[in-house]
Amino acid sequence: MTMPVRVREPGKRLAAFCLALAAIAASAAALRAQAVPPTTLATHQGARVTRAPFGTTPAGQAVDVFTLTNAHGMEIRAMTYGGIIVSLKVPDRTGRLDDVVLGYDSLAGYLRTTPYFGAIVGRYANRIAHAQFTLDGTSYHVPVNDGANSLHGGIAGFDKVVWNAEPFWGDSGVGVAFTHTSPDGDQGYPGKLAVRVTYTLTDRDELVVDYHATTDKATPVNLTQHSYFNLAGDGSGDVLRQVLWINADRYTPVDSTLIPTGVLAPVAGTPFDFRTPTAIGARIAQDDEQLRRGRGYDHNFVLNRASPGLVHAARAFDPGSGRTLDVSTTEPGLQIYTGNFLDGSITGKAGHVYGHRNAFCLETQHFPDSPNQSGFPSTILRPGEEYRSRTVFAFGVSP
Ligand code: GLA
Repeated sequence: MTMPVRVREPGKRLAAFCLALAAIAASAAALRAQAVPPTTLATHQGARVTRAPFGTTPAGQAVDVFTLTNAHGMEIRAMTYGGIIVSLKVPDRTGRLDDVVLGYDSLAGYLRTTPYFGAIVGRYANRIAHAQFTLDGTSYHVPVNDGANSLHGGIAGFDKVVWNAEPFWGDSGVGVAFTHTSPDGDQGYPGKLAVRVTYTLTDRDELVVDYHATTDKATPVNLTQHSYFNLAGDGSGDVLRQVLWINADRYTPVDSTLIPTGVLAPVAGTPFDFRTPTAIGARIAQDDEQLRRGRGYDHNFVLNRASPGLVHAARAFDPGSGRTLDVSTTEPGLQIYTGNFLDGSITGKAGHVYGHRNAFCLETQHFPDSPNQSGFPSTILRPGEEYRSRTVFAFGVSP
């Protein structure tokens, strides 16, 4: 006869009880995520937005996922945790839909480990040297999380926040608006920052990302979207044959810790010249000090622009599927990151193992380390001012 196992010590009993409770909560959350059908919130001229539960954080916060669909079947799923774009399905030249961003099937993966897959990054996208800056005579310290530097807003940046979310729809398309108020001193940054980021899916197969922020104290702000694109489809290997065009005569070379030296260097005659469409892999292995420092492309390009407003920043093209991605932005810079830190240690959607350079990121932004670089366009937002930024990701196909 098997005896029931008795837990004798009260401490252990409590621990076992807590474990059991946690297990019940986790399976309830999983059931909730599976069992509750999505709520259709709106249909508008063949486009649709739905909302469904996507899980619960360890702190007990419910996470929802919004699905935006347009009349052509293009579909974007984005969740309230980190504002993360979980999937983005677009047709290839034969009309076949594939998911063109890396990530996970469920919330658990994103909670375990993620190199910012699909997330809204802030308060300061990219690096701040030595994790400190001086503003109006006061010095501020932000979290050290990348060598000696601060990366992507610190240890608990906007990618790890559960955002409030509301759907919207209208003639411009269907969308979701994420809002979040970051308290004064959050991750060391001054000022209470009220942020709003919207994703709009248009009937022209565009994802429009609009950023808005206000503050009650002067503070640096630099927001971006960190989707990992593979135009051949998630899990289809490296992106080295995919082609890039970048509208930049100059880029910002970096030191060995990926902090810009302050120089705006010409791309002419370097592997950073993408003014003629060139395969990502064509020069990535060249013997070049900058490529060595980035372990590939992990650099900010200075976008050519004649006037403020949207400028066509880049075009990516996958010769295999025919998919194209055009990026336009109001930002001055574009960080090209070629998944150099992906090393096969992450298993993502549908069991896909993400190897070296299995995706590229096109992060529209102000230049890295701007709070410490007086020669760069300012990233300081002051009370009474509005931070506004727009990036358009337009998908299409080419023969
Ligand atoms: C940015 C950085 C990279 C890397 C990725 C995420 O692109 O510039 O160095 O941190 O984010 O891994």
